[in-house]
Amino acid sequence: MSDIVVLSGSPSERSRSDLVLRHLGTLLEKEKLKVTHISIRDVPQEVLFYGKYDSQAIQEITSLIQNAKGVIIGSPVYKAAYSGVLKALIDLLPQDVLQDTPVLPIMTGGSPAHLLAIEYTLKPLLANLKGQNLKGVYLLDSQINKESLENPIIDFEILERTRKQLYYFIQTVQKQQTAVLR
Ligand SMILES: Cc1cc2nc3c(=O)[nH]c(=O)nc-3n(C[C@H](O)[C@H](O)[C@H](O)COP(=O)(O)O)c2cc1C
Repeated sequence: MSDIVVLSGSPSERSRSDLVLRHLGTLLEKEKLKVTHISIRDVPQEVLFYGKYDSQAIQEITSLIQNAKGVIIGSPVYKAAYSGVLKALIDLLPQDVLQDTPVLPIMTGGSPAHLLAIEYTLKPLLANLKGQNLKGVYLLDSQINKESLENPIIDFEILERTRKQLYYFIQTVQKQQTAVLR
Protein backbone atom coordinates (compact mmCIF):
# COMPACT_ATOMS: atom_id res chain seq x y z
CA MET A 1 0.00 0.00 0.00
CA SER A 2 1.32 3.45 -0.88
CA ASP A 3 1.30 6.27 1.63
CA ILE A 4 0.90 8.94 -1.01
CA VAL A 5 -0.55 8.76 -4.52
CA VAL A 6 0.57 11.42 -6.97
CA LEU A 7 -1.83 11.85 -9.89
CA SER A 8 -0.42 13.66 -12.89
CA GLY A 9 -2.96 15.11 -15.32
CA SER A 10 -0.89 16.32 -18.26
CA PRO A 11 -1.10 14.55 -21.62
CA SER A 12 2.27 16.04 -22.66
CA GLU A 13 5.28 13.79 -23.05
CA ARG A 14 7.64 16.42 -21.66
CA SER A 15 5.41 17.88 -19.01
CA ARG A 16 6.26 20.67 -16.63
CA SER A 17 3.56 19.77 -14.15
CA ASP A 18 4.68 16.13 -14.19
CA LEU A 19 8.27 17.24 -13.55
CA VAL A 20 7.16 19.26 -10.52
CA LEU A 21 5.06 16.34 -9.24
CA ARG A 22 7.97 13.93 -9.60
CA HIS A 23 10.16 16.36 -7.68
CA LEU A 24 7.59 16.44 -4.86
CA GLY A 25 7.50 12.63 -4.95
CA THR A 26 11.27 12.53 -4.46
CA LEU A 27 11.01 14.89 -1.47
CA LEU A 28 8.28 12.67 0.03
CA GLU A 29 10.46 9.58 -0.41
CA LYS A 30 13.24 11.37 1.47
CA GLU A 31 10.72 11.62 4.34
CA LYS A 32 10.37 7.81 4.15
CA LEU A 33 6.94 7.88 2.55
CA LYS A 34 6.00 5.33 -0.09
CA VAL A 35 4.89 7.15 -3.22
CA THR A 36 2.97 5.84 -6.24
CA HIS A 37 3.01 8.09 -9.29
CA ILE A 38 0.08 7.72 -11.69
CA SER A 39 0.24 9.61 -14.96
CA ILE A 40 -2.82 10.10 -17.11
CA ARG A 41 -0.57 8.98 -19.96
CA ASP A 42 -0.45 5.47 -18.43
CA VAL A 43 -4.22 5.04 -18.57
CA PRO A 44 -5.28 3.24 -21.77
CA GLN A 45 -6.82 5.73 -24.19
CA GLU A 46 -9.92 3.60 -24.86
CA VAL A 47 -10.64 3.47 -21.11
CA LEU A 48 -10.79 7.26 -21.02
CA PHE A 49 -12.48 7.79 -24.37
CA TYR A 50 -15.17 5.14 -24.01
CA GLY A 51 -15.68 5.70 -20.28
CA LYS A 52 -14.82 2.15 -19.18
CA TYR A 53 -15.78 2.44 -15.50
CA ASP A 54 -15.33 -1.29 -14.85
CA SER A 55 -11.93 -1.69 -16.53
CA GLN A 56 -8.99 -3.11 -14.61
CA ALA A 57 -7.09 0.18 -14.98
CA ILE A 58 -9.87 2.15 -13.27
CA GLN A 59 -10.28 -0.46 -10.54
CA GLU A 60 -6.54 -0.34 -9.81
CA ILE A 61 -6.39 3.47 -9.74
CA THR A 62 -9.49 3.62 -7.53
CA SER A 63 -8.00 1.14 -5.09
CA LEU A 64 -4.65 2.99 -4.98
CA ILE A 65 -6.37 6.31 -4.27
CA GLN A 66 -8.82 4.91 -1.72
CA ASN A 67 -5.99 3.26 0.22
CA ALA A 68 -3.64 6.25 0.15
CA LYS A 69 -3.07 8.38 3.23
CA GLY A 70 -2.79 11.48 1.07
CA VAL A 71 -3.05 12.43 -2.58
CA ILE A 72 -1.30 15.08 -4.68
CA ILE A 73 -3.10 16.00 -7.89
CA GLY A 74 -1.45 18.09 -10.56
CA SER A 75 -2.66 19.50 -13.86
CA PRO A 76 -1.61 22.03 -16.45
CA VAL A 77 -4.04 24.91 -17.04
CA TYR A 78 -5.85 24.27 -20.32
CA LYS A 79 -8.30 26.96 -21.41
CA ALA A 80 -8.47 28.40 -17.89
CA ALA A 81 -9.24 25.03 -16.22
CA TYR A 82 -7.69 21.59 -15.52
CA SER A 83 -6.88 19.36 -18.49
CA GLY A 84 -9.71 17.52 -20.20
CA VAL A 85 -8.00 14.14 -19.88
CA LEU A 86 -7.66 14.53 -16.11
CA LYS A 87 -11.41 15.19 -15.97
CA ALA A 88 -12.01 12.17 -18.23
CA LEU A 89 -10.26 10.00 -15.64
CA ILE A 90 -11.92 11.64 -12.65
CA ASP A 91 -15.33 11.09 -14.29
CA LEU A 92 -14.70 7.34 -14.04
CA LEU A 93 -13.75 7.28 -10.34
CA PRO A 94 -16.28 6.76 -7.51
CA GLN A 95 -18.02 9.91 -6.28
CA ASP A 96 -16.37 9.77 -2.83
CA VAL A 97 -12.96 8.41 -3.89
CA LEU A 98 -11.11 11.07 -1.84
CA GLN A 99 -13.25 10.73 1.31
CA ASP A 100 -11.29 11.85 4.43
CA THR A 101 -8.11 12.23 2.36
CA PRO A 102 -5.84 15.28 2.50
CA VAL A 103 -5.27 16.49 -1.06
CA LEU A 104 -2.60 18.87 -2.30
CA PRO A 105 -3.58 20.50 -5.62
CA ILE A 106 -0.85 21.68 -7.98
CA MET A 107 -1.30 23.55 -11.26
CA THR A 108 1.11 24.92 -13.82
CA GLY A 109 0.18 27.60 -16.33
CA GLY A 110 1.70 29.89 -18.89
CA SER A 111 0.03 33.00 -17.57
CA PRO A 112 -0.47 34.60 -14.14
CA ALA A 113 -3.93 35.58 -15.41
CA HIS A 114 -5.12 32.03 -14.69
CA LEU A 115 -3.73 31.82 -11.17
CA LEU A 116 -7.25 31.37 -9.83
CA ALA A 117 -7.93 28.30 -11.97
CA ILE A 118 -6.78 26.26 -8.99
CA GLU A 119 -9.46 27.90 -6.78
CA TYR A 120 -12.30 27.94 -9.28
CA THR A 121 -11.77 24.69 -11.16
CA LEU A 122 -9.46 22.12 -9.52
CA LYS A 123 -10.37 22.61 -5.86
CA PRO A 124 -14.16 22.41 -6.39
CA LEU A 125 -13.65 19.21 -8.40
CA LEU A 126 -11.58 17.64 -5.61
CA ALA A 127 -14.02 18.82 -2.95
CA ASN A 128 -16.79 17.12 -4.92
CA LEU A 129 -14.88 13.85 -4.50
CA LYS A 130 -14.88 14.60 -0.72
CA GLY A 131 -11.16 15.41 -0.58
CA GLN A 132 -9.78 17.68 2.13
CA ASN A 133 -8.19 20.39 0.01
CA LEU A 134 -5.00 22.06 1.13
CA LYS A 135 -4.09 25.49 -0.20
CA GLY A 136 -2.11 24.18 -3.16
CA VAL A 137 0.40 25.82 -5.47
CA TYR A 138 0.18 27.46 -8.91
CA LEU A 139 3.48 27.59 -10.78
CA LEU A 140 4.23 29.57 -13.90
CA ASP A 141 6.13 28.05 -16.82
CA SER A 142 8.82 30.70 -16.31
CA GLN A 143 9.42 29.28 -12.80
CA ILE A 144 10.10 25.74 -14.08
CA ASN A 145 13.20 24.44 -15.83
CA LYS A 146 12.06 21.62 -18.09
CA GLU A 147 15.62 20.35 -18.46
CA SER A 148 16.24 19.73 -14.77
CA LEU A 149 14.91 16.51 -13.28
CA GLU A 150 16.50 17.18 -9.90
CA ASN A 151 15.62 20.84 -9.35
CA PRO A 152 12.88 21.82 -11.79
CA ILE A 153 11.58 24.77 -9.74
CA ILE A 154 13.99 27.61 -10.45
CA ASP A 155 12.22 30.49 -8.74
CA PHE A 156 13.34 30.70 -5.10
CA GLU A 157 10.12 32.13 -3.72
CA ILE A 158 7.82 29.59 -5.38
CA LEU A 159 10.21 26.79 -4.42
CA GLU A 160 9.96 27.82 -0.76
CA ARG A 161 6.18 28.11 -1.00
CA THR A 162 5.91 24.69 -2.67
CA ARG A 163 8.13 23.03 -0.05
CA LYS A 164 6.18 24.68 2.77
CA GLN A 165 2.93 23.38 1.31
CA LEU A 166 4.42 19.91 0.90
CA TYR A 167 5.58 19.72 4.53
CA TYR A 168 2.22 21.02 5.71
CA PHE A 169 0.64 18.25 3.61
CA ILE A 170 2.89 15.66 5.29
CA GLN A 171 1.93 16.96 8.74
CA THR A 172 -1.77 16.86 7.85
CA VAL A 173 -1.45 13.28 6.61
CA GLN A 174 0.38 12.26 9.79
CA LYS A 175 -2.17 13.97 12.06
CA GLN A 176 -5.00 12.30 10.18
CA GLN A 177 -3.36 8.89 10.63
CA THR A 178 -2.88 9.48 14.38
CA ALA A 179 -6.56 10.42 14.69
CA VAL A 180 -7.62 7.28 12.77
CA LEU A 181 -5.48 5.03 15.00
CA ARG A 182 -6.91 6.47 18.24
C1 LIG B 1 -4.07 23.25 -25.07
C2 LIG B 1 -3.39 24.19 -24.12
C3 LIG B 1 -4.13 25.15 -23.49
C4 LIG B 1 -3.54 26.05 -22.58
N1 LIG B 1 -4.30 26.97 -21.96
C5 LIG B 1 -3.74 27.79 -21.04
C6 LIG B 1 -4.54 28.75 -20.35
O1 LIG B 1 -5.73 28.88 -20.56
N2 LIG B 1 -3.91 29.52 -19.43
C7 LIG B 1 -2.57 29.41 -19.13
O2 LIG B 1 -2.08 30.13 -18.26
N3 LIG B 1 -1.79 28.51 -19.80
C8 LIG B 1 -2.35 27.71 -20.73
N4 LIG B 1 -1.57 26.79 -21.39
C9 LIG B 1 -0.16 26.66 -21.03
C10 LIG B 1 0.03 25.50 -20.06
O3 LIG B 1 -0.87 25.56 -18.97
C11 LIG B 1 1.43 25.50 -19.44
O4 LIG B 1 2.41 25.53 -20.44
C12 LIG B 1 1.61 24.30 -18.54
O5 LIG B 1 2.73 24.47 -17.70
C13 LIG B 1 1.77 23.02 -19.33
O6 LIG B 1 1.92 21.97 -18.41
P1 LIG B 1 2.45 20.56 -18.88
O7 LIG B 1 3.80 20.76 -19.50
O8 LIG B 1 2.50 19.75 -17.62
O9 LIG B 1 1.44 20.00 -19.85
C14 LIG B 1 -2.14 25.94 -22.32
C15 LIG B 1 -1.39 24.97 -22.99
C16 LIG B 1 -2.00 24.11 -23.88
C17 LIG B 1 -1.17 23.06 -24.59
